[in-house]
Amino acid sequence: MLFNNLKSFFLLSSAVQLSNAAANDYQANAEAALSTLQKWYSTNTGIWNTTGWWNSANCLTTIGDLAAVDGNVRSAAEKVFSNTLVQAQKYNLQQTKVITPDFNMQTFEGANIPSDLLRIAAAANPKGFLNGYYDDEGWWALGWIQAYDVTGNQDYLNTAVDIFKDMKNGSEPDCGGGIWWDKANTYVNAIANELYLSVASHLANRVPSQKQSYLDIATKQWDWFQKTGMINSQNLINDGLNDKCKNNNGTVWSYNQGVILGGLVELNKAAPNPSYLSKANAIAKAAIKALSFDGVLHDPCEPNCGADGNQFKGIFMRNLQILQSASPDNAYLEFFASNAASIWNKDRSKSGNELSVDWDGPYVTPANASTQSSALDALVAAAAFQGQLGNGISS
Ligand SMILES: *[C@@H]1O[C@H](CO)[C@@H](O)[C@H](O)[C@H]1NC(C)=O
Ligand SMILES: *[C@@H]1O[C@H](CO)[C@@H](O)[C@H](O)[C@H]1NC(C)=O
Ligand SMILES: *[C@@H]1O[C@H](CO)[C@@H](O)[C@H](O)[C@H]1NC(C)=O
Ligand SMILES: *[C@@H]1O[C@H](CO)[C@@H](O)[C@H](O)[C@H]1NC(C)=O
Repeated sequence: MLFNNLKSFFLLSSAVQLSNAAANDYQANAEAALSTLQKWYSTNTGIWNTTGWWNSANCLTTIGDLAAVDGNVRSAAEKVFSNTLVQAQKYNLQQTKVITPDFNMQTFEGANIPSDLLRIAAAANPKGFLNGYYDDEGWWALGWIQAYDVTGNQDYLNTAVDIFKDMKNGSEPDCGGGIWWDKANTYVNAIANELYLSVASHLANRVPSQKQSYLDIATKQWDWFQKTGMINSQNLINDGLNDKCKNNNGTVWSYNQGVILGGLVELNKAAPNPSYLSKANAIAKAAIKALSFDGVLHDPCEPNCGADGNQFKGIFMRNLQILQSASPDNAYLEFFASNAASIWNKDRSKSGNELSVDWDGPYVTPANASTQSSALDALVAAAAFQGQLGNGISS
């Protein structure tokens, strides 16, 4: 393995066989990429150095996703879950996020906010896994649900239940349904609303005594989401709504094409309806067509995606993996393989298996816990279907 990987760097064209073989051992590569991710994990804070608060919820989820398909990493994952549950909520990063006039999100740490943006900065009010942003809360809720799925530990599920109670406080904005993005009520966007749908649907399948109430929220949320027009005529989801509650034509980010897929799969489990999976497949296919080039997923921000944008692609892959489990399609399998192989062959540091933002390469420094966990999501999706992909997918 190691020999093959090293060799692929030096013998690019003549070692296509060798480098493909290495790139196609998805599970081993995911394990190696996880070791790299964990060099940024701070046991003191329970989150990952070099990245932010919501990104850390995604690091946690990614590790849970790998543990769900790879017993080799389960005990390492359990240690992370139990430590982060205690430490991260003591720590809770003081981050402020703003939406720029062109509907893009920017994150600032501490008081370090440019003065021209300060006036629209939403108040942060960190407490436990809660802060000023309903999307951040949704990421943590999904992370703890995944930790619960892997371990069966009720504490993790209860944490998600508590987080969701707070998300419900964001409901009833001026646009006739859904939730706000932030507690300062400055924006209604796709991501917070997809997360609200997804968390409610996940909880409907995991909290039997409250199933109906979560299901009611999720069903209402999906009806509303479709009516808002955030899903455009090409089945792509724009960033959010403008002040007239209409699609704002904001950037089509990969993560907004992703969270909805997992949400609809869970909603379909809770209350089967063929329209859920057919819409999920339509969105997934439209996203792959619009956002990939030569089989590799991209976001429009690359290579300068900042503190938030370099997390996005992995979220799409993670949710496409969920869709593949519920509604298998060879096109998705090929997409997992082509992204995982490209990351391994073209987007990896010469030492230490660091993975950076452009999955088609070149590797750009610095990688960090955000780029690493995002790329790891793609490796995990391929590893989850290693048996079907084999080691010989053609490129
Ligand atoms: C994380 O950052 C803190 C503060 O800079 C540092 O003390 C700690 O050693 C770092 N931990 C890791 C695992 O990098
Ligand atoms: C959210 O609502 C619950 C109950 O409805 C309340 O106990 C809690 O304090 C609210 N949270 C915030 C941040 O307002
Ligand atoms: C969004 O774009 C569509 C098509 O280009 C256009 O018809 C519509 O007016 C735009 N909406 C907004 C809010 O800019
Ligand atoms: C992580 O790395 C990416 C790519 O180099 C960079 O754009 C981003 O700002 C980094 N994030 C942080 C928090 O430094």
